[in-house]
Amino acid sequence: MAEFSIDRFVDRYAERTSGMSASEVRALFAVAARPEVVSLAGGMPYVEALPARAVLEVATQVLGELGPTALQYGGGQGQLALRDRAVMLMAEEGVDADPADVVITTGAQQALDLLGKIFIDPGDMIAVEAPAYVGALTAFAAYQPRFLTIELDDEGMIVEQLERAIVRGERPTFVYTVPNFGNPAGVTMSGRRRDQLVALCRETGIPIIEDNPYGLLRFEGEPLPCLRSLDPRNVIYLGTVSKTFSPGVRVGWALADPSVIQRLVLAKEAADLCGSNLTMLLTERWFSDDDRWRTALAGLVDTYRSRRDAMLGALDEHFPSTAAWTHPSGGFYVWVTLPDWSDTTAMLRPRSSVGSRTSREPPSIPTAEAATGCGWPTATPRKIGSGRALRGWPRSSRTRNASIGAFTDHEDRGPGGRPNAGARCVAPQRSPYDALTR
Ligand SMILES: Cc1ncc(COP(=O)(O)O)c(C=O)c1O
Repeated sequence: MAEFSIDRFVDRYAERTSGMSASEVRALFAVAARPEVVSLAGGMPYVEALPARAVLEVATQVLGELGPTALQYGGGQGQLALRDRAVMLMAEEGVDADPADVVITTGAQQALDLLGKIFIDPGDMIAVEAPAYVGALTAFAAYQPRFLTIELDDEGMIVEQLERAIVRGERPTFVYTVPNFGNPAGVTMSGRRRDQLVALCRETGIPIIEDNPYGLLRFEGEPLPCLRSLDPRNVIYLGTVSKTFSPGVRVGWALADPSVIQRLVLAKEAADLCGSNLTMLLTERWFSDDDRWRTALAGLVDTYRSRRDAMLGALDEHFPSTAAWTHPSGGFYVWVTLPDWSDTTAMLRPRSSVGSRTSREPPSIPTAEAATGCGWPTATPRKIGSGRALRGWPRSSRTRNASIGAFTDHEDRGPGGRPNAGARCVAPQRSPYDALTR
Protein backbone atom coordinates (compact mmCIF):
# COMPACT_ATOMS: atom_id res chain seq x y z
CA MET A 1 0.00 0.00 0.00
CA ALA A 2 1.27 3.47 -0.83
CA GLU A 3 2.42 5.55 2.15
CA PHE A 4 1.23 9.11 2.52
CA SER A 5 2.90 11.47 4.87
CA ILE A 6 1.46 14.84 5.66
CA ASP A 7 3.92 17.31 7.11
CA ARG A 8 2.15 18.60 10.22
CA PHE A 9 4.64 21.44 10.58
CA VAL A 10 4.16 22.73 7.08
CA ASP A 11 2.90 26.14 8.26
CA ARG A 12 5.55 26.42 10.98
CA TYR A 13 8.76 26.45 9.00
CA ALA A 14 10.76 29.65 8.73
CA GLU A 15 10.41 31.59 5.52
CA ARG A 16 14.06 30.92 4.67
CA THR A 17 13.43 27.20 4.26
CA SER A 18 11.49 27.99 1.10
CA GLY A 19 14.87 28.89 -0.44
CA MET A 20 16.19 25.44 0.45
CA SER A 21 15.54 23.18 -2.47
CA ALA A 22 16.53 19.52 -2.51
CA SER A 23 20.29 19.61 -2.78
CA GLU A 24 21.58 18.26 -6.06
CA VAL A 25 24.90 17.78 -4.28
CA ARG A 26 23.45 15.58 -1.57
CA ALA A 27 21.45 13.54 -4.05
CA LEU A 28 24.50 13.22 -6.21
CA PHE A 29 26.83 12.11 -3.44
CA ALA A 30 24.29 9.61 -2.20
CA VAL A 31 24.16 7.97 -5.61
CA ALA A 32 27.87 8.33 -6.33
CA ALA A 33 28.79 6.66 -3.05
CA ARG A 34 27.21 3.42 -4.22
CA PRO A 35 29.99 1.01 -5.12
CA GLU A 36 28.47 -0.03 -8.45
CA VAL A 37 28.22 3.54 -9.68
CA VAL A 38 30.77 5.51 -11.68
CA SER A 39 30.08 9.12 -10.92
CA LEU A 40 30.87 11.71 -13.50
CA ALA A 41 29.03 14.42 -11.72
CA GLY A 42 30.32 15.53 -8.35
CA GLY A 43 33.69 16.72 -7.19
CA MET A 44 34.48 13.35 -5.65
CA PRO A 45 38.27 13.02 -5.42
CA TYR A 46 39.92 9.72 -6.25
CA VAL A 47 40.90 8.99 -2.65
CA GLU A 48 41.89 5.43 -3.57
CA ALA A 49 45.07 6.97 -4.97
CA LEU A 50 46.18 8.08 -1.50
CA PRO A 51 48.76 5.82 0.17
CA ALA A 52 46.43 4.05 2.63
CA ARG A 53 49.25 2.78 4.81
CA ALA A 54 50.67 6.26 5.28
CA VAL A 55 47.25 7.62 6.20
CA LEU A 56 46.79 4.84 8.73
CA GLU A 57 50.21 5.57 10.21
CA VAL A 58 49.34 9.22 10.63
CA ALA A 59 45.98 8.39 12.26
CA THR A 60 47.70 5.96 14.63
CA GLN A 61 50.36 8.50 15.57
CA VAL A 62 47.76 11.17 16.26
CA LEU A 63 45.67 8.95 18.49
CA GLY A 64 48.74 7.46 20.17
CA GLU A 65 50.51 10.74 20.86
CA LEU A 66 47.68 13.24 21.16
CA GLY A 67 44.70 11.08 22.10
CA PRO A 68 43.21 13.25 24.86
CA THR A 69 43.41 16.39 22.70
CA ALA A 70 42.19 14.62 19.59
CA LEU A 71 39.12 13.31 21.40
CA GLN A 72 38.29 16.59 23.15
CA TYR A 73 36.43 19.77 22.11
CA GLY A 74 38.64 22.52 20.74
CA GLY A 75 38.50 26.26 20.09
CA GLY A 76 36.14 27.70 17.48
CA GLN A 77 38.95 29.05 15.32
CA GLY A 78 40.61 25.65 14.94
CA GLN A 79 43.97 24.23 15.97
CA LEU A 80 46.80 26.76 15.61
CA ALA A 81 49.17 24.14 14.19
CA LEU A 82 46.67 23.39 11.42
CA ARG A 83 46.17 27.09 10.70
CA ASP A 84 49.95 27.22 10.23
CA ARG A 85 49.66 24.41 7.68
CA ALA A 86 46.86 26.26 5.92
CA VAL A 87 49.17 29.27 5.71
CA MET A 88 51.87 27.01 4.26
CA LEU A 89 49.45 25.65 1.61
CA MET A 90 48.32 29.14 0.65
CA ALA A 91 51.96 30.20 0.29
CA GLU A 92 52.25 27.47 -2.38
CA GLU A 93 49.95 29.65 -4.44
CA GLY A 94 51.58 32.93 -3.54
CA VAL A 95 49.12 33.96 -0.84
CA ASP A 96 50.70 35.59 2.16
CA ALA A 97 48.73 35.01 5.37
CA ASP A 98 48.86 35.17 9.14
CA PRO A 99 47.43 32.16 11.01
CA ALA A 100 45.55 34.63 13.25
CA ASP A 101 43.48 35.60 10.18
CA VAL A 102 42.44 32.02 9.45
CA VAL A 103 39.45 30.08 10.75
CA ILE A 104 39.29 26.35 10.17
CA THR A 105 35.88 25.22 8.95
CA THR A 106 34.15 21.94 8.28
CA GLY A 107 35.24 21.96 4.66
CA ALA A 108 35.09 25.06 2.51
CA GLN A 109 31.39 24.31 2.33
CA GLN A 110 30.86 25.43 5.90
CA ALA A 111 32.80 28.61 5.21
CA LEU A 112 30.34 29.35 2.37
CA ASP A 113 27.42 28.84 4.71
CA LEU A 114 28.96 30.97 7.46
CA LEU A 115 29.75 33.75 5.00
CA GLY A 116 26.12 33.67 3.88
CA LYS A 117 25.09 33.89 7.51
CA ILE A 118 27.22 36.92 8.33
CA PHE A 119 26.82 38.85 5.07
CA ILE A 120 23.40 38.18 3.54
CA ASP A 121 20.15 39.77 4.62
CA PRO A 122 17.00 38.60 2.82
CA GLY A 123 16.71 40.37 -0.51
CA ASP A 124 20.39 41.34 -0.72
CA MET A 125 21.94 40.86 -4.11
CA ILE A 126 25.03 38.71 -4.52
CA ALA A 127 27.00 38.25 -7.72
CA VAL A 128 27.82 34.71 -8.84
CA GLU A 129 29.24 33.18 -11.98
CA ALA A 130 26.95 31.45 -14.43
CA PRO A 131 27.37 28.57 -14.02
CA ALA A 132 28.43 28.63 -10.37
CA TYR A 133 29.27 25.89 -7.89
CA VAL A 134 25.90 24.48 -6.94
CA GLY A 135 26.91 23.93 -3.30
CA ALA A 136 27.62 27.65 -2.93
CA LEU A 137 24.29 28.55 -4.47
CA THR A 138 22.55 26.19 -2.08
CA ALA A 139 24.45 27.56 0.93
CA PHE A 140 23.73 31.19 0.00
CA ALA A 141 20.13 30.54 -1.03
CA ALA A 142 19.21 29.68 2.57
CA TYR A 143 19.81 33.34 3.45
CA GLN A 144 17.36 34.49 0.76
CA PRO A 145 19.52 36.66 -1.49
CA ARG A 146 18.79 37.72 -5.05
CA PHE A 147 21.37 36.36 -7.47
CA LEU A 148 23.08 38.54 -10.03
CA THR A 149 24.52 36.08 -12.52
CA ILE A 150 27.61 36.98 -14.50
CA GLU A 151 28.41 34.83 -17.48
CA LEU A 152 31.71 33.09 -18.12
CA ASP A 153 33.73 32.87 -21.27
CA ASP A 154 37.12 31.25 -21.90
CA GLU A 155 38.74 33.88 -19.67
CA GLY A 156 36.39 33.31 -16.75
CA MET A 157 33.88 35.79 -15.36
CA ILE A 158 33.01 38.48 -17.88
CA VAL A 159 33.83 41.35 -15.58
CA GLU A 160 32.33 43.90 -18.01
CA GLN A 161 28.90 42.41 -17.25
CA LEU A 162 29.43 43.00 -13.55
CA GLU A 163 30.61 46.52 -14.29
CA ARG A 164 27.51 47.23 -16.39
CA ALA A 165 25.29 45.95 -13.57
CA ILE A 166 27.05 48.23 -11.10
CA VAL A 167 26.67 51.19 -13.47
CA ARG A 168 22.94 50.31 -13.69
CA GLY A 169 22.82 50.77 -9.93
CA GLU A 170 23.12 47.20 -8.69
CA ARG A 171 25.25 46.91 -5.57
CA PRO A 172 26.03 43.26 -4.76
CA THR A 173 26.89 42.47 -1.15
CA PHE A 174 29.76 40.37 -2.47
CA VAL A 175 31.04 38.65 -5.58
CA TYR A 176 31.60 34.90 -5.40
CA THR A 177 34.05 33.29 -7.80
CA VAL A 178 36.04 30.08 -8.32
CA PRO A 179 38.84 31.47 -10.49
CA ASN A 180 40.93 28.29 -10.87
CA PHE A 181 39.50 25.37 -12.89
CA GLY A 182 36.04 26.33 -11.69
CA ASN A 183 33.33 23.96 -10.68
CA PRO A 184 31.49 23.17 -12.90
CA ALA A 185 32.81 24.95 -16.00
CA GLY A 186 36.50 24.02 -15.73
CA VAL A 187 37.38 27.58 -16.77
CA THR A 188 40.28 29.56 -15.30
CA MET A 189 40.05 33.32 -14.95
CA SER A 190 42.73 35.04 -17.04
CA GLY A 191 45.29 37.38 -15.51
CA ARG A 192 43.65 40.33 -17.27
CA ARG A 193 40.23 39.53 -15.81
CA ARG A 194 41.72 39.01 -12.35
CA ASP A 195 43.19 42.50 -12.44
CA GLN A 196 39.92 43.92 -13.77
CA LEU A 197 37.76 42.21 -11.16
CA VAL A 198 39.98 43.15 -8.26
CA ALA A 199 40.19 46.78 -9.40
CA LEU A 200 36.43 47.07 -9.96
CA CYS A 201 35.56 45.57 -6.59
CA ARG A 202 38.15 47.66 -4.78
CA GLU A 203 36.83 50.85 -6.34
CA THR A 204 33.22 50.03 -5.56
CA GLY A 205 33.87 48.55 -2.11
CA ILE A 206 32.40 45.15 -2.97
CA PRO A 207 34.16 42.25 -1.24
CA ILE A 208 35.18 39.23 -3.29
CA ILE A 209 34.88 35.65 -2.04
CA GLU A 210 37.57 33.62 -3.79
CA ASP A 211 36.91 29.89 -3.48
CA ASN A 212 40.02 27.94 -4.47
CA PRO A 213 39.74 24.20 -3.91
CA TYR A 214 41.46 23.19 -7.15
CA GLY A 215 44.38 25.62 -7.49
CA LEU A 216 47.06 23.04 -6.67
CA LEU A 217 45.63 20.58 -9.21
CA ARG A 218 47.22 22.23 -12.24
CA PHE A 219 48.09 19.94 -15.15
CA GLU A 220 49.97 22.43 -17.28
CA GLY A 221 50.76 26.11 -17.71
CA GLU A 222 51.89 28.73 -15.25
CA PRO A 223 49.82 29.46 -12.13
CA LEU A 224 48.08 32.82 -12.10
CA PRO A 225 48.05 35.04 -9.02
CA CYS A 226 45.24 34.44 -6.56
CA LEU A 227 42.79 37.32 -6.21
CA ARG A 228 43.69 37.42 -2.53
CA SER A 229 47.33 38.13 -3.34
CA LEU A 230 46.23 40.92 -5.71
CA ASP A 231 44.11 42.58 -3.05
CA PRO A 232 44.52 41.12 0.45
CA ARG A 233 42.20 43.74 2.00
CA ASN A 234 39.16 43.13 -0.17
CA VAL A 235 39.31 39.40 -0.87
CA ILE A 236 38.08 36.66 1.44
CA TYR A 237 39.88 33.49 0.48
CA LEU A 238 38.58 29.95 0.97
CA GLY A 239 40.79 26.87 0.95
CA THR A 240 40.28 23.18 1.60
CA VAL A 241 42.25 19.94 1.76
CA SER A 242 39.36 18.04 0.20
CA LYS A 243 40.91 17.87 -3.26
CA THR A 244 44.58 17.71 -2.29
CA PHE A 245 44.24 15.21 0.56
CA SER A 246 40.83 13.97 1.68
CA PRO A 247 37.28 15.32 1.76
CA GLY A 248 36.57 12.82 4.54
CA VAL A 249 38.49 14.85 7.11
CA ARG A 250 36.24 17.85 6.38
CA VAL A 251 38.95 20.43 6.78
CA GLY A 252 38.69 23.75 5.00
CA TRP A 253 39.37 27.33 6.00
CA ALA A 254 38.68 30.98 5.42
CA LEU A 255 41.31 33.71 5.35
CA ALA A 256 39.99 37.22 5.89
CA ASP A 257 40.37 40.47 7.82
CA PRO A 258 40.29 40.02 11.61
CA SER A 259 36.80 41.59 11.81
CA VAL A 260 35.41 39.03 9.37
CA ILE A 261 37.24 36.18 11.07
CA GLN A 262 35.82 37.22 14.42
CA ARG A 263 32.27 37.01 13.05
CA LEU A 264 32.97 33.74 11.28
CA VAL A 265 34.28 32.21 14.52
CA LEU A 266 31.16 33.34 16.40
CA ALA A 267 28.94 31.95 13.64
CA LYS A 268 30.89 28.70 13.62
CA GLU A 269 30.66 28.30 17.37
CA ALA A 270 26.91 28.80 17.11
CA ALA A 271 26.74 26.18 14.36
CA ASP A 272 28.92 23.40 15.77
CA LEU A 273 31.03 24.72 18.70
CA CYS A 274 34.24 23.64 16.98
CA GLY A 275 35.62 21.46 14.24
CA SER A 276 36.84 17.92 14.89
CA ASN A 277 40.16 17.95 16.74
CA LEU A 278 40.77 14.42 15.55
CA THR A 279 40.64 15.21 11.85
CA MET A 280 42.32 18.59 12.31
CA LEU A 281 45.30 16.93 14.00
CA LEU A 282 45.35 14.17 11.41
CA THR A 283 45.38 16.72 8.60
CA GLU A 284 48.07 18.77 10.33
CA ARG A 285 50.23 15.68 10.69
CA TRP A 286 49.65 14.70 7.05
CA PHE A 287 50.95 18.03 5.82
CA SER A 288 53.84 18.11 8.30
CA ASP A 289 55.85 15.77 6.10
CA ASP A 290 56.74 17.75 3.01
CA ASP A 291 57.83 14.79 0.98
CA ARG A 292 54.72 12.75 1.85
CA TRP A 293 52.08 15.27 0.87
CA ARG A 294 53.93 16.51 -2.20
CA THR A 295 54.40 12.97 -3.52
CA ALA A 296 50.76 12.09 -2.90
CA LEU A 297 49.59 15.31 -4.54
CA ALA A 298 51.83 14.78 -7.57
CA GLY A 299 50.30 11.30 -7.94
CA LEU A 300 46.78 12.77 -7.84
CA VAL A 301 47.66 15.42 -10.39
CA ASP A 302 49.04 12.76 -12.75
CA THR A 303 45.90 10.66 -12.37
CA TYR A 304 43.58 13.59 -12.98
CA ARG A 305 45.63 14.77 -15.95
CA SER A 306 45.39 11.41 -17.67
CA ARG A 307 41.63 11.29 -17.01
CA ARG A 308 41.22 14.78 -18.39
CA ASP A 309 43.07 13.66 -21.50
CA ALA A 310 40.87 10.57 -21.80
CA MET A 311 37.76 12.68 -21.38
CA LEU A 312 38.75 15.25 -23.96
CA GLY A 313 39.68 12.41 -26.31
CA ALA A 314 36.31 10.75 -25.78
CA LEU A 315 34.48 14.03 -26.35
CA ASP A 316 36.40 14.56 -29.59
CA GLU A 317 35.61 11.08 -30.69
CA HIS A 318 31.97 10.79 -29.75
CA PHE A 319 30.33 14.18 -29.51
CA PRO A 320 28.85 15.85 -32.57
CA SER A 321 30.77 18.69 -34.17
CA THR A 322 27.96 21.03 -33.13
CA ALA A 323 28.89 20.53 -29.45
CA ALA A 324 31.60 22.63 -27.81
CA TRP A 325 33.45 22.17 -24.57
CA THR A 326 35.99 23.83 -22.32
CA HIS A 327 39.63 22.73 -22.16
CA PRO A 328 40.49 22.69 -18.46
CA SER A 329 44.14 22.87 -17.55
CA GLY A 330 43.51 21.49 -14.06
CA GLY A 331 40.82 20.43 -11.62
CA PHE A 332 37.92 18.08 -12.22
CA TYR A 333 35.48 19.49 -14.73
CA VAL A 334 34.74 20.06 -18.36
CA TRP A 335 31.66 21.99 -19.46
CA VAL A 336 29.93 20.93 -22.62
CA THR A 337 27.59 23.19 -24.54
CA LEU A 338 25.30 21.21 -26.75
CA PRO A 339 23.43 22.36 -29.82
CA ASP A 340 20.19 24.23 -29.04
CA TRP A 341 18.03 21.31 -30.02
CA SER A 342 19.55 18.99 -27.39
CA ASP A 343 17.67 18.10 -24.25
CA THR A 344 20.00 16.46 -21.77
CA THR A 345 17.19 15.85 -19.28
CA ALA A 346 15.45 13.75 -21.84
CA MET A 347 18.73 12.04 -22.66
CA LEU A 348 19.19 10.85 -19.13
CA ARG A 349 15.69 9.93 -18.16
CA PRO A 350 15.28 6.77 -20.20
CA ARG A 351 18.83 5.72 -19.46
CA SER A 352 18.41 5.90 -15.72
CA SER A 353 15.75 3.24 -15.92
CA VAL A 354 17.82 0.90 -18.04
CA GLY A 355 19.81 -1.43 -15.86
CA SER A 356 19.31 0.83 -12.89
CA ARG A 357 19.81 -0.94 -9.60
CA THR A 358 17.58 1.31 -7.62
CA SER A 359 14.24 2.63 -8.69
CA ARG A 360 14.67 5.82 -6.68
CA GLU A 361 17.68 7.20 -8.39
CA PRO A 362 17.02 10.80 -9.37
CA PRO A 363 16.98 10.90 -13.16
CA SER A 364 19.10 14.03 -13.29
CA ILE A 365 22.09 12.36 -11.68
CA PRO A 366 24.51 11.17 -14.31
CA THR A 367 26.10 7.86 -13.61
CA ALA A 368 27.70 5.26 -15.75
CA GLU A 369 24.74 2.98 -15.30
CA ALA A 370 22.33 5.73 -16.11
CA ALA A 371 24.26 6.69 -19.17
CA THR A 372 25.25 3.34 -20.51
CA GLY A 373 22.69 0.95 -19.11
CA CYS A 374 25.47 -1.06 -17.49
CA GLY A 375 25.91 -1.20 -13.73
CA TRP A 376 29.37 -0.74 -12.33
CA PRO A 377 31.67 -2.67 -12.28
CA THR A 378 30.52 -4.56 -15.35
CA ALA A 379 31.03 -1.60 -17.69
CA THR A 380 34.66 -1.61 -18.70
CA PRO A 381 36.37 1.62 -19.76
CA ARG A 382 36.66 0.15 -23.26
CA LYS A 383 32.89 -0.29 -23.51
CA ILE A 384 32.31 3.14 -22.11
CA GLY A 385 34.85 4.70 -24.42
CA SER A 386 33.26 2.91 -27.34
CA GLY A 387 30.48 5.48 -27.29
CA ARG A 388 27.62 3.55 -25.72
CA ALA A 389 27.31 6.31 -23.17
CA LEU A 390 26.55 8.76 -25.92
CA ARG A 391 23.81 6.99 -27.79
CA GLY A 392 20.58 8.70 -28.75
CA TRP A 393 20.66 12.45 -29.07
CA PRO A 394 17.13 13.71 -28.55
CA ARG A 395 15.98 16.51 -30.77
CA SER A 396 14.08 18.95 -28.67
CA SER A 397 15.38 22.14 -27.22
CA ARG A 398 15.47 22.92 -23.52
CA THR A 399 18.66 22.36 -21.59
CA ARG A 400 21.93 22.86 -23.37
CA ASN A 401 24.74 22.64 -20.92
CA ALA A 402 26.35 19.67 -19.34
CA SER A 403 29.03 19.55 -16.70
CA ILE A 404 31.07 16.43 -16.67
CA GLY A 405 33.16 15.54 -13.65
CA ALA A 406 35.56 13.83 -15.91
CA PHE A 407 38.56 13.01 -13.92
CA THR A 408 37.39 11.62 -10.67
CA ASP A 409 35.42 8.51 -11.47
CA HIS A 410 36.60 5.31 -9.87
CA GLU A 411 38.35 3.23 -12.41
CA ASP A 412 37.44 -0.17 -13.58
CA ARG A 413 39.65 -2.66 -11.78
CA GLY A 414 41.84 -5.10 -13.57
CA PRO A 415 43.45 -8.22 -12.15
CA GLY A 416 44.76 -7.73 -8.64
CA GLY A 417 42.67 -4.63 -8.20
CA ARG A 418 44.98 -2.54 -10.37
CA PRO A 419 43.28 0.20 -12.31
CA ASN A 420 42.82 -0.52 -16.01
CA ALA A 421 44.01 2.06 -18.46
CA GLY A 422 41.45 3.44 -20.87
CA ALA A 423 38.92 6.10 -21.60
CA ARG A 424 36.51 7.22 -18.93
CA CYS A 425 32.81 7.24 -19.30
CA VAL A 426 31.11 10.37 -20.53
CA ALA A 427 27.62 11.19 -19.41
CA PRO A 428 25.80 14.40 -20.24
CA GLN A 429 24.04 16.01 -17.32
CA ARG A 430 21.08 18.27 -16.91
CA SER A 431 22.34 21.55 -15.56
CA PRO A 432 21.25 22.12 -11.98
CA TYR A 433 21.98 25.79 -12.45
CA ASP A 434 19.30 26.60 -14.93
CA ALA A 435 16.85 27.92 -12.39
CA LEU A 436 19.41 30.43 -11.19
CA THR A 437 21.30 31.29 -14.29
CA ARG A 438 18.58 31.83 -16.85
C1 LIG B 1 34.11 25.18 -5.78
C2 LIG B 1 33.92 24.37 -4.55
N1 LIG B 1 33.85 24.98 -3.36
C3 LIG B 1 33.69 24.30 -2.23
C4 LIG B 1 33.56 22.93 -2.25
C5 LIG B 1 33.35 22.20 -0.96
O1 LIG B 1 34.53 21.64 -0.55
P1 LIG B 1 34.75 21.03 0.88
O2 LIG B 1 34.86 19.56 0.72
O3 LIG B 1 36.03 21.65 1.37
O4 LIG B 1 33.59 21.41 1.75
C6 LIG B 1 33.62 22.24 -3.46
C7 LIG B 1 33.46 20.78 -3.52
O5 LIG B 1 33.32 20.18 -4.54
C8 LIG B 1 33.82 22.99 -4.64
O6 LIG B 1 33.91 22.40 -5.84
